[in-house]
Amino acid sequence: MAILITGGCGYIGSHTCIEMLKAGYEIVVVDNYYNSKPEALNRIKELSGKEFPFYECDIRDAEGLRRVFRENTIEAVIHFAGLKAVGESVQIPLTYYDNNVSGTVVLCQVMAEMGCKRIIFSSSATVYGSENPSPLNETMPVGAVTNPYGRTKFMIEGILSDLCVSDPDWSVVLLRYFNPIGAHESGHIGEDPNGIPNNLMPYISQVAIGKLKQLSVFGNDYNTHDGTGVRDYIHVVDLAVGHVKAVDYALGHTGVEAINLGTGVGYSVLDLVNAFIAANGVDVPYVIAPRRSGDVDTCYSDPTKAAELLGWKAEKNVEDMCRDTWRWQSQNPKGYNK
Ligand code: NAD
Ligand code: UD1
Repeated sequence: MAILITGGCGYIGSHTCIEMLKAGYEIVVVDNYYNSKPEALNRIKELSGKEFPFYECDIRDAEGLRRVFRENTIEAVIHFAGLKAVGESVQIPLTYYDNNVSGTVVLCQVMAEMGCKRIIFSSSATVYGSENPSPLNETMPVGAVTNPYGRTKFMIEGILSDLCVSDPDWSVVLLRYFNPIGAHESGHIGEDPNGIPNNLMPYISQVAIGKLKQLSVFGNDYNTHDGTGVRDYIHVVDLAVGHVKAVDYALGHTGVEAINLGTGVGYSVLDLVNAFIAANGVDVPYVIAPRRSGDVDTCYSDPTKAAELLGWKAEKNVEDMCRDTWRWQSQNPKGYNK
């Protein structure tokens, strides 16, 4: 009996593979390496000291997926595989709908065919849109998303919920991540973005290592304690442990649950920059720049439901997030390219 992890070579997937193996689960990984490298797989194996089957396969390839299910006994799927760059999704929306939405439909069709009806899905706090006040909880209305990436998450949440209505044997957990940052404390696996990063933490760490000249802080006139945007940053290892708990839960329940994975605490852009400098003793030059379109001033979670339903809560603090990011970045200045 094994758990299939789609997108298991990516940033969150690789950390989840480690935590799943640590918890005693057997895993099978599928990835098409669109946004990851085989070296990630080597490091998961090194760190865990365990072997597991890997298939280089696109989730839109039904026959490829059938082979995975035929050759392994899959109890449940953790589904990370997807594209995640908000700006890019505005430029090439059809690619996002095809990869994320069609990919999930093909995956679920094969799962149903093979009699595996448990799925943990990587959703995002982005489904809450900009209208709901923080702390955001799972009873709030979702769907007021502003870009194709966000719409794929909202659409997939709907598709998986419809599956549960159509067939009471399905078990679906929609995990709404807040802002994952950090890296494994060994410094051997972490986030390896292609090109210039869009997100704050990889940008900070590339400025700190000298790859980028300075950080642009997008706006200092928001309605927050220092005028810069506030987010709920969560350590990627805490997030990974949340997936282990979600699998435990899905194995014993049916129906659909949406669950936030966040810390419940918000930090501003400047809080994070200052925490990074303090934790690592490095310089992070920055300038104040205009707001980035589509950004909200404040976004943080109410993490109560995850504690009640999964018995999970984030353990690591912002200093851990900054220290672990820097260990990964400084030990692997070229990411997985060595
Ligand atoms: P990532 O890009 O590092 O990992 C995704 C992995 O999926 C990559 O290894 C990629 O090669 C693979 N993949 C993509 N399309 C595929 C396909 N069609 N078939 C097979 N493999 C495919 O991203 P991540 O940060 O680890 O995010 C994982 C999931 O979590 C994504 O669905 C993302 O949208 C979601 N999410 C991420 C964040 C974040 O800030 N990182 C926040 C909310 C939600
Ligand atoms: C982004 C995505 C969101 C996704 C989330 C998950 C966008 C617009 N939104 O959210 O869909 O669910 O990641 O992690 O990409 N900032 C700077 N300078 C930078 C980069 C960011 O000041 O160079 C600021 C932003 O304005 C924001 C904060 O840092 O206030 C965090 O930004 P980012 O890391 O991109 O995450 P989100 O915008 O919260």
